[in-house]
Amino acid sequence: MNHEHHHDHHCGCGCQDEPKFPELDAVLDAYADVAGSLITILQKAQEIYGYLSPDLMLYISRETDIPVAKIYGVATFYAQFRMNPVGKHLIMLCQGTACHVNGSSMIEEAVVEYLGINEGETTEDGLFTLENVACLGCCSLSPVMMIDGETYGQLTKDKVVNILTELKEQEA
Ligand code: FES
Repeated sequence: MNHEHHHDHHCGCGCQDEPKFPELDAVLDAYADVAGSLITILQKAQEIYGYLSPDLMLYISRETDIPVAKIYGVATFYAQFRMNPVGKHLIMLCQGTACHVNGSSMIEEAVVEYLGINEGETTEDGLFTLENVACLGCCSLSPVMMIDGETYGQLTKDKVVNILTELKEQEA
C-alpha cells in the first residue's frame, strides 16, 4: 500500500478508472497533514457518502499516507462508522432494557421474517436497513423502533408488519 509519491492520484498501471471522491478533497486538504485527524476525516467522509466503502478507504489512505489497514481498523472499531450502504429507510430497533423486557426480540423476529434480512443488513432492493440500538429514550412506549427519525411505539408483530408494508407501498 505504500506509494512513492504523496498525493499521487494514479496507481501507475495506466488505468483510468481509479475511483475518485472529489467531494472529499476539501476535507483532505484541510486535514490530511494534521496528526490525529483520521477520525474526523472518516466522519466527514461518512457524512458525504453515507458509508465507508473499500474504495473510499483506499482513497483516504492514498491521500493521507495512512496505511489502509489502520483506516480499516479504526472504521471497524468505532460503532459510529458503517462500511455498508444504508437502505433508503433506516430501521433502528431498540434493544434497551425496557424494550427487551417488553418483547423487542419478538419485534426483531417479525422484521427479520418480513424483510428477509438480519441485523446490520440491507434488503436487496436497497429499501431497508435494520439496526439494533440501545435505548432510544422513550422507554414508556416500549417496545420502540425509529424509522427515518420517526418513532413508533408499543409495537406488536402485526403493527410492525403494517408499518413496513405501508412504507413499501409508498415506493411502488
Ligand atoms: S429501552 Fe427502548 S426506548 Fe428505552
